Formats: sequence, C-alpha cells, structure tokens
Amino acid sequence: MRISVFGLGYVGCVSAACLASMGHEVIGVDVNQVKVDLVNDGKAPVVEERIGELTADVVRTGALRATTDVREAIMDSEVSLVCVGTPSEPNGSLCTTYLERVTEEIGAALAERGGRHTVVFRSTMLPGTCLNLLVPILEKSLGGTVGVDVGVAVNPEFLREGTSVRDFFDPPKTVIGELDQASGDAVAALYEGLPGEVFRVPVPTAEAIKYADNAFHGLKIGFANELGAVCQALGVDSHQVMDVFLADRKLNISPAYLRPGFAFGGSCLPKDLRSLVHAAQRADVSVPILSHVLPSNADHLQRAVELVERTGKRRVGMFGLSFKPGTDDLRESPLVELAERLFGKGYDLKIHDANVSLSRLIGANREYIETRLPHLAQLLADSVDEVLQHAEVCLVGTKDPAVLSALPHGGGQVIVDLIRLPDAETRRTEPGYMGLAW
Ligand SMILES: NC(=O)c1ccc[n+]([C@@H]2O[C@H](COP(=O)([O-])OP(=O)(O)OC[C@H]3O[C@@H](n4cnc5c(N)ncnc54)[C@H](O)[C@@H]3O)[C@@H](O)[C@H]2O)c1
Repeated sequence: MRISVFGLGYVGCVSAACLASMGHEVIGVDVNQVKVDLVNDGKAPVVEERIGELTADVVRTGALRATTDVREAIMDSEVSLVCVGTPSEPNGSLCTTYLERVTEEIGAALAERGGRHTVVFRSTMLPGTCLNLLVPILEKSLGGTVGVDVGVAVNPEFLREGTSVRDFFDPPKTVIGELDQASGDAVAALYEGLPGEVFRVPVPTAEAIKYADNAFHGLKIGFANELGAVCQALGVDSHQVMDVFLADRKLNISPAYLRPGFAFGGSCLPKDLRSLVHAAQRADVSVPILSHVLPSNADHLQRAVELVERTGKRRVGMFGLSFKPGTDDLRESPLVELAERLFGKGYDLKIHDANVSLSRLIGANREYIETRLPHLAQLLADSVDEVLQHAEVCLVGTKDPAVLSALPHGGGQVIVDLIRLPDAETRRTEPGYMGLAW
C-alpha cells in the first residue's frame, strides 16, 4: 500500500520504517525540517533499538522518504497514519491542537486529490475526539462526507518505547476502531501477516482501550511499589511476596475482578485493606493508592443510590442482599449498605434474596443485620413475584436464575442493573434500563 505517516516522532518514525520494511511504500511528513532531512539521509530522528539500521535500509531501497509538504504526501498515498503528539495541557487536559491542524491540512489536500483515501488516527486521544472533533474538521476542509468520500479509523499504538520495533513485529494486539468496514479493511491490510489478535471495534471503544491499558499499567506499578514499601517497613521481602502473588493465575494475574460491576464488600476485603493501610500509616509509609481503594468503593456504591434517585420513582424491589452469590453472609455486604441508604431516604423497599431469610440468620449475621438494617424483617419477601408486584424499580444485585428469568422487559418497570445482566447488551437499547457502569 502507499502510506503517508504524519508526525515523525517516536510513534510515526517507528511505524513508517516498519511498514516500509514490510513492503509498503511510505512517505513521512513532519513540520520539523530537521526530522525530515534526517529521514531522507537514512537516519532515524529518535533513538530506539534497531530503528537506525531499519531506517537506513528502507530509505536506501526507496521504500521510505520524508517531506514537509502535506499535499505531496496525500497525492502519493491511499492511507494516512496520523501520529502527531497529544501532550497534556497545564491543567491535565488533552491538547488536540496538532491533531486538529493536521486533520485540516489532510482534508484540504484530499479535496484536490479525489478518489478513496483512509485517514487513520494513531495518536492517543480521549473517546469522542475522533467522531466529535476531528471528523467535523475533516469534512469541513474536505467539503465531503466521511464514510463516503473518505474513510476514517482509529488505530492506537501499544508499543513500548525502547523496544517498539521488536513490538511492532510482535504486537500484544492490534486494535482497529472503524467508522465503517471499508475503513477497517484498509487498516487491517497495513498489518497483514503480523501476529497477535486483531480487534475491530467502534471508534470510541478503540480510543478508550488505550486509556484502559495505560491507566492499568500505571496502577500496577503504583500498587507494586506501595506494597513493596509496606513490606520493606514490615521487614518482609517484597519480591518474594510478589513472586507468589504473580504465580496465582486464577485470582491475581487473570481476568478475575476486572469487569465493571457493583461495589465489593464481604468480611475480608474491606477489613484487610483497612488494617494494611493502618499498618502502613503506623510505619510512616505513604500509600495513596491503597488508602483510596475503600473510598473509591464507597463512591461506586453511591452511584447506585443516585441511579435509583434518577428514576424519580419510590417503590423499589431489590434482588440480592448477601455480599456475593451462593452465600448468606451479610457482613459488610454492599447491598445491605445500599438497602439501608435507600430505606433511610424513605424509599418503599422490598427485598428478595433466596439465600437469606431471617430464620436462617444466625450468629454474626443476625447481629450485623440487627445493627445495620433493623427493619430487614419487614422488607424481606419470600418470593420473586412478591417483589416484582411491588416494584416500580427493579434493583438487580444477584444472578440468581429465578430472578433473571422473571425480570420484565420493555420499560413498564425500570431495571437498575448492578451486575451486568447476561442480556444487558440487548436490554441497553430498551427503555427503562439503566446499567451501573456501562
Ligand atoms: N511515545 C510512545 O511510546 C507512544 C506510545 C503510544 C502512543 N503514543 C501516542 O502517539 C502520539 C505521538 O507520540 P510521539 O511520542 O511519537 O510524539 P512526538 O512528540 O515524539 O512526535 C510528534 C511529531 O509530530 C510532529 N507534528 C506536529 N504537528 C504536525 C503536523 N501538523 N504535521 C506533521 N507533523 C507534525 C512533531 O514535529 C513531532 O515530530 C501521541 O498521541 C502519544 O500519546 C506514544
């Protein structure tokens, strides 16, 4: 394919040289004449493992050249990869100035060119940037319509600086956010023959994936370092701890606990986080991530309260009360806390949980419920139907099959979904459905 690459920084320069080495014909564009001259001399404008030799090779064979002339690059290509910088503004917001300018320039050049062209944004940008900001700019300067006169896609970059050439040929994944199938096909063709799974998703999803990745990577490093500091203060070898931690592929290094859902609770997580943070504080070790896990969880619980408030209705039927399915343990159940807040706000509440009935409540549970939710006995209903009859709002906190099969469709009753119902995908389009974090 004939490809133009806009922005010859770390991302653009590696993409350009690697694509050229795969047999594509590539023209790099940058506003910086020094970078353009360096590339045309066969020298990489960035320092990266293997990029020097690769650039020299592909420039010598004529597969890669560079220019400052946008028009020339657009005339000579069928796909444009936009790799300009998106730095932080002083207030932390994303600077889209370079993206906006380059999009306008590409649109103006395409207006002269005619014929099918696909613009692929590789820069990191917040969900909505492409469709709400860049597409209107492109359509205006082009005097045409995306999807008809020009293809548009988002193709975030997941390569690590330092090893990005190696990563390019063995990527962790390829993500294609496509405006339409033809746009996605053009991006897929660029990487044909490379290993790794390819995900073709809506444009805003592709934009968000990059943030999910980087936020998680930062969180992982912060978590490991805080835990390391606490272990050190307590005289424990943190690397030995993490060796064992990492060996657990069922609960730790796994998809477990990584799907948006309801707040956590139970008799262990809150208690153990509290005591770990307390131990860190006593040892004068600052652990901002660990100490904000419980407040984050409390904020998430509050979101559920606000969802119910937003319905404007008073009669609430709650399904599920114990802290997770298959147990009657109510200690620190976030659903108990939610029920209590709604009750306190005067909602007319009925609750059903097959695992919980007052007669079965013994020991710690009975005591817990008596202090946390003294009116539970009046609120509990023995059957799903009784709660359904009562409810204007069905608040679903359990995956109990008897509840799932009885839940109504179609908007007569509002469904507030705390657990991502198995049919949430279709329900999302129905009136009266509200997901907690989806
Ligand atoms: N560096 C990384 O490892 C990495 C990894 C993944 C994603 N990203 C994202 O990719 C994007 C690019 O990052 P980078 O590190 O390569 O940036 P960079 O600052 O190294 O390079 C950006 C280049 O764009 C050029 N440029 C600016 N305006 C231009 C225009 N109108 N026309 C042509 N060129 C123009 C600049 O002169 C510069 O050479 C950013 O959104 C970044 O967040 C970077």
